[in-house]
Amino acid sequence: MLSFAKKLISVLAGMMVFVSASAVLAAESDASLKWWQKTSVYQIYPKSFADINGDGISDLQGITEHLDHIKDLGCGAIWITPVYPSPMVDNGYDIADYKGIDPSYGTMKDFDKLVAEAGKRNIRIVMDLVFNHSSDQHAWFRESKQSRTNPKADWYIWRDAKPDGSAPTNWRGIFGGSAWTWCEERQQYYLHTFASQQPDLNWENPEVRKALYDAALFWLNKGVGGFRIDAITYIKKPEFRDGKPDGEDGMSSIHFMTANTPGILDFLHEFKREVYEGKDIFTVGEANGVAPEDLPKWVGSQGVFDMVFEFSHMNLALKNGEIWCRYTKWKLPELKNALTASQKMTANNGWCPVFFENHDQPRCVNHFFPQGADTRKAAKVIATVLLTLRGTPFIYEGQELGYTNVAWPSIDNYNDISSHGQYKIALEEGFTPEQAMKFVHYFSRDNARTPMQWNTGLNAGFSSGKPWLPVHDDYLAVNTLTESEDPGSVLSWYKTMAEFRRSHKELTEGSYEELLPEDEQVFAFARTSGKRRLVTVANFSLREAKLPDGFMKGKSILMSSEPGGDATVLRPLEARVYRDK
Ligand code: NOJ
Repeated sequence: MLSFAKKLISVLAGMMVFVSASAVLAAESDASLKWWQKTSVYQIYPKSFADINGDGISDLQGITEHLDHIKDLGCGAIWITPVYPSPMVDNGYDIADYKGIDPSYGTMKDFDKLVAEAGKRNIRIVMDLVFNHSSDQHAWFRESKQSRTNPKADWYIWRDAKPDGSAPTNWRGIFGGSAWTWCEERQQYYLHTFASQQPDLNWENPEVRKALYDAALFWLNKGVGGFRIDAITYIKKPEFRDGKPDGEDGMSSIHFMTANTPGILDFLHEFKREVYEGKDIFTVGEANGVAPEDLPKWVGSQGVFDMVFEFSHMNLALKNGEIWCRYTKWKLPELKNALTASQKMTANNGWCPVFFENHDQPRCVNHFFPQGADTRKAAKVIATVLLTLRGTPFIYEGQELGYTNVAWPSIDNYNDISSHGQYKIALEEGFTPEQAMKFVHYFSRDNARTPMQWNTGLNAGFSSGKPWLPVHDDYLAVNTLTESEDPGSVLSWYKTMAEFRRSHKELTEGSYEELLPEDEQVFAFARTSGKRRLVTVANFSLREAKLPDGFMKGKSILMSSEPGGDATVLRPLEARVYRDK
């Protein structure tokens, strides 16, 4: 009872700034939009969410127990990164059985229970399909590698060595090192876009495609609400030829050689026809290498997915490729341009996911803001932008609490396979170990993978055993219990903004228009539906930002992440939403 009262106080406190808007709180969402366009999606990294059995690794039961946390954030779907049986070389993105549950996460019964319990709360479970590659421990690969003539011989991508015995091409895999690995049994190389334990499947083989579609149908029959489709832009391989070396190692990034190769959409149209066309679920493809201008072919009425994760706003520092030590600096207008480009390309046809974090990215408060920023304020800026842009907002676990990056002293402290590869590349490119660690601190995927912090108890309430990755040392202040009792917390702001989104149909159905595109401090945009128009302004800088003369004309403030202050001046890291007449 007490905690309910506290919750209520916190929600009311967050709403105080927009009492004048109470008349629009009851607005209905547009009936023509699908369910997944009117909700937000919560992403769970299943190793790090909540561990019930005390083995240090989260489990499906832990997700089921915390469904109300997700419900309170206004999310109607949960994307769970892979929970299939896996040797976990890449934490589940190396699948050994497409139709099972890894015992470390529980059983199929636990999965069914999760779907049912989530369903009671109007939440649907979204599975991660990893169809570009499997694990090298999958029965298909174990058979394929035995000979050049076995029934699965052509299920993966096998090529002879060059005459000098070297790999068929000079392609560098995304985790570093050659994208080819020699197989003694077959006396051939096999291709892997990622780690050598993740051999690429041969989509040219119709039997392979059929087996993958069959796996997807298996999960649809279990009642899942959609799919996130991993690394899908790499499934079509081009001619196997060397690329221009782009680094000290004489190799050429496989990403630039194979991503989004012509012919890929034929495969994907077939996938859509055979598996999900016309079903009441959503699909979101991970589409590295798809530029905003390609979006009409990928989403919308002629497209293959409902949405794709397009990464131009996430990759601003890595415009030159995926090598961390070659990062470049960027300015706010570039971020705004990138977001605006995908908003525009999906304005009349298609839909986009809105996201600032996932399990492959550093924490957004470190990524998108200057060093030294108050990360709590920065987190509220992101929440305000995320929940007022057009598209389906994706909230990654911990983002709603204002999680920050970790900075562990040695590369040996890191589990993430790509951090190890990138550390090695930095050393090869002449950086000192200290400098190489700086890149790891900034970009490591482990930043996003530390355990969820639920309370101030042992291991932040994540596990009674030793967590597989250390809990962030800020957990006494940053955890769901403490934050849910504090009306000024990041979590309370997420809940307030989620409610604000739900109650303003401009934010789901409205158009998007960028304002002040040249401004280097402020991201400003309008969302308009009929006569109703909301304007978001967010100061991403550590300095006050004066709004241009006349900007405030006709506007009244509904929401502010830092209430009070001057109407025409945004404080550092302040975000507001105005009603515009
Ligand atoms: C993209 C996933 O998001 C990432 O975590 C994984 O390592 C690669 N694909 C390989 O599956």
